Amino acid sequence: MDKAIQRAEKIMAQINELAAISEESQGITRLFGTSAFLQGSHTLLAWMKAAGLDSRIDNIGNVRGRLPSADSHAKTLVIASHIDTVRNAGKFDGPLGVIMGLDIVTHIIQSRTELPFHIELIAFSDEEGVRYHTTYLGSKVVAGSFETNLLQKKDDAGITLQETIVQMKGDPGQLKTDAIAPEEWLGYFEIHIEQGPVLYERDIPVAIVTAIAGQKRAEISFTGVAGHAGTVPMHMRQDALCCAAAFILETEKLALNHSIVATVGKLQITGAASNTIPGTVTCSLDLRSADEATAAAAYEELYNTCITICSKRNITVRWQLVQQTAPIACDAGLNALLAQAVTECGYPLIEMPCGAGHDAVAVSAVSPVAMLFVRCFKGISHNPEEDVELKDIAAAIKVSDNFIHQLIRSR
Ligand code: HGY
Ligand code: MN
Ligand code: MN
Repeated sequence: MDKAIQRAEKIMAQINELAAISEESQGITRLFGTSAFLQGSHTLLAWMKAAGLDSRIDNIGNVRGRLPSADSHAKTLVIASHIDTVRNAGKFDGPLGVIMGLDIVTHIIQSRTELPFHIELIAFSDEEGVRYHTTYLGSKVVAGSFETNLLQKKDDAGITLQETIVQMKGDPGQLKTDAIAPEEWLGYFEIHIEQGPVLYERDIPVAIVTAIAGQKRAEISFTGVAGHAGTVPMHMRQDALCCAAAFILETEKLALNHSIVATVGKLQITGAASNTIPGTVTCSLDLRSADEATAAAAYEELYNTCITICSKRNITVRWQLVQQTAPIACDAGLNALLAQAVTECGYPLIEMPCGAGHDAVAVSAVSPVAMLFVRCFKGISHNPEEDVELKDIAAAIKVSDNFIHQLIRSR
C-alpha cells in the first residue's frame, strides 16, 4: 500500500483520538485552559515524547517538541498549528496541522535525515480566542509579542487569563522566556484545512496560501431600559435587543455592499426572560478583509451606523475594539519551494489568499511564513461536518516531505 496512505491512516487515527477529548458530551469543544484542553495537550505531549522529541508544555500551554540539528548555531524551522477549538467544532481545524507535523518530523527521525536547521513542532494553545475573545495567545508568546495587559482579560465566568495560566501550572511572569528570539527563526510552516470551498469545487487536494486576511474583533453593549413585556407601550420602550437587531442587520447589509465579511457570532441578553423587555444586550463583531483600508473604512462606517441607530432609539452604547490584526503576506521564498514541491509531486498548482485567521499571522512579525491548504469536504469548518479524505492527507504528506527536503537542500 502507498506509504503516504499508511501514514495518513495513522494521522487520521490520532485525529480521531484527540477528537474524542471534549468538555461536552456531544461534539468537540476544547477551549483554552479547560480540563479537556489539558487532557488533549498531555495526549499530544506523550505522542511527541514517544516520537523522540525533546518535549514540554510552556507557560501559555503550547505543547512543544524539538528536533535539534547537530549544528548548535543553526536556525529553527517551526512546524505548527493549534489544538484549541471553537465550540462544537470539527476535528481537523488545528489538529490536522499539528498531527501531520508530528508525522513529518517522525519520518525525518526515522529516515535519519541530517538537519542543517532545528525543527520545533508546536501545538499552539489558543488560536481561536473563544474563551478570552482575543486570538493567537500561544503564537504571540512564541513570537515574543504577547502583551502583558492581556493577563487581566476575563472570561465569561470572570476568571482572568492570569488565573487560568496559573491553574495550568504555567508562570505568567515567565512568558517572555518561551519566545523564540527573532534571529533564531529560519521559517514557519503550517498545514491547515482550507475551510472554504475552492479546492473541493476544483477537485484539487492542496493549495499554497499567498496572504491571510486582516481582522478586527469588537465587543458592543447596548443599554436601554428593562421593562414589563405586558405593560410598557411600544412607543415608550428602550428595547436593547431591537436596537442590537437593527445594528446586526445593518452590519450584514454593509458587508455585502463593501464585499468584506462581517459576523455577529455571540449575543447575550442580560437577565433574559420571555416577559421582560431586554435592558442590556452584548454582542461580538468580527470584521475581515484582505485589504486593510477597506476593513478600516467599513469598521468606521459600522461604528457610525451603530451610534445613529442607538441615538434614534434612545439606547446607550459601549463599543470596545478587543483585537485587530493587519493582513499578512506569506513568504515568497518559502512559497517558491512549496510550489516546486507541489509540482514535483504531480499536483495542480493553486495559490490563493486565506479569509480565516491563523497563528501564521502572529508569527509573521518575526519569521517568514508558509501555509499549505488541504481540501476539506465542501469547505465546511467550525462545524462537526468538517471532513478530510485520507488521499488528501497523503497528498499533503508527499508535498510537505518534498518541501522540507527542498529547504534542507537550500541551506
Ligand atoms: O477565526 C478564524 O479565522 C480562525 O478559525 N481562528
Ligand atoms: Mn484553525
Ligand atoms: Mn478555526
